Amino acid sequence: MKEIDIVTPVVAKTYEELDSTDRALVEAAKAATAGSYSPYSHFAVGAAILLDNGVTVTGANQENAAYPSGTCAERSACYYAGANYPEARFERIAVAAVGPDGNPTASPTAPCGACRQALLEYEKRAGHNVPVLLAGSSEVYILPSVASLLPIAFSEF
Ligand code: THU
Repeated sequence: MKEIDIVTPVVAKTYEELDSTDRALVEAAKAATAGSYSPYSHFAVGAAILLDNGVTVTGANQENAAYPSGTCAERSACYYAGANYPEARFERIAVAAVGPDGNPTASPTAPCGACRQALLEYEKRAGHNVPVLLAGSSEVYILPSVASLLPIAFSEF
């Protein structure tokens, strides 16, 4: 028998500590919350993905009266990127949210499990780590890769 410890390294930076690329990506994720359609949860999520062609793709959660038919911000962004820029590789991802009180969430918003699995597919296609930036109101958590958010993930390749 052996024990395996899994460590998720997180760097917490203030907004002042972000470099210009990361700050712009987080701002894009925050701005993307404006496109959220969330009349049921009143929780507006925005995601921004920087591609290796220099394009930043954004997405926001889109809810539906039949709840499971809605989709999260991260998946709306990554599927848009995959459909419209099939040759491009993901470089970095940022996620931000505005809560039901209309304010940015105090704590960093993290992708749900299904979004982690979806994003992992694009990290594998990229062939390199894709850092994930999770925006809170005063600091941003930076994870080194999607895989670090989903250890022991299912994978066929
Ligand atoms: N949501 C996202 O957009 N991303 C996540 O990773 C978690 C949850 C959305 C789904 C739903 O529209 C709302 O947030 C509340 O769960």
